[in-house]
Amino acid sequence: MKTYDIGVLPGDGIGPEVVAEGVKVLQVLMKEEGFDCNLVEYPYSGEHYLKTKELVSEKQIDEWRKLDAVFLGAIGHPDVEPGLVERSVILGLRFGLDLYINLRPIKLYAEDMCPIKGKTPEDIDFVVVRENTEGLYAQIGGFLKKGTSDEVATVTGVYTRKGVERAIRYGFELAKERAENRGKQGMVTLVDKANAVRPHDIWTRAFAEVGEEYPDIKQDHAYVDACSMWMIKNPEWFDVIVTDNLFGDIVTDLGAMIQGGLGIAAGGNINPQGVSMFEPMGGSAPKYAGKNVINPLAAICACQMMLDHLGEKKAAQRVEQAVMQVLGKHVKNLAAGEMGYSTQEVGDLVAKYL
Ligand code: IPM
Ligand code: MG
Repeated sequence: MKTYDIGVLPGDGIGPEVVAEGVKVLQVLMKEEGFDCNLVEYPYSGEHYLKTKELVSEKQIDEWRKLDAVFLGAIGHPDVEPGLVERSVILGLRFGLDLYINLRPIKLYAEDMCPIKGKTPEDIDFVVVRENTEGLYAQIGGFLKKGTSDEVATVTGVYTRKGVERAIRYGFELAKERAENRGKQGMVTLVDKANAVRPHDIWTRAFAEVGEEYPDIKQDHAYVDACSMWMIKNPEWFDVIVTDNLFGDIVTDLGAMIQGGLGIAAGGNINPQGVSMFEPMGGSAPKYAGKNVINPLAAICACQMMLDHLGEKKAAQRVEQAVMQVLGKHVKNLAAGEMGYSTQEVGDLVAKYL
């Protein structure tokens, strides 16, 4: 039997609660779909940092290279300096394991969950491919005369031809696969700000060149400001969006809202040649921690993406179907405390419909 070594990082706040429901779903599938998971838990979180001052080391990253995948809950603690643990754990994983694709499906499962009037599941079904290791996240910059009235802060956006090209190629490959599955023409929309930020021209040129290798896939372009507008006005136009790290961060939160909210939005941090990490998109939501009221569906959808990535396609499809059943029949409001069910009950419902 195939056994997957999965690193589990429940993290902070509501992380452990939603991760537990994801694991519940995995456990049902393991028995029935003929694979096994060896779940190895790691304590990294803001909470753990406050107790031990421990962050993620190089050695730890090396150990993670041997895993098949990582499943992460949420990182962020109100008593820790903003971003410190997030940079160590989330960005540590992304940079350390070269998880150069951040994949975020924007799929509406039930019409009543969409805040845009008149949009149905047929209208909202696209994927954002966010470049995940460069741009303004490359951590190049710093402060001069910090804290004085002469303070200077700089940050440099980094775009390498290799980094840009591999994100674009991933987008075209995905569009090809989606076109085959959906029986529709595929399209990739490049989202940048090349009108104002001229170095974004590296994206424009790489996109045109890589696009030539995919004559059946339509090439489209939108500046990021216009993209935000179209995502609300005409989300049905999009199929696959490829974009830079920071723009991807922003438009995927917008995307989460039009698919029903952070309670359903999941993401994969992918290295197609190595270990990948899967996470719900929402944060640690400390005020709901331990209350058993937060929605675990995003974490369950992250498990679905992980299974799909590991090649357990049937198991992944079963999760998606079960989530759709739960949304169709039970959970009409995804907001914490307003689901009409507890966190554990929603996990149980998904397990039941599997
Ligand atoms: C995300 C988050 C992270 C990011 C934070 C927590 C560092 O917002 O995964 O979208 O900016 O990428
Ligand atoms: Mg974000």
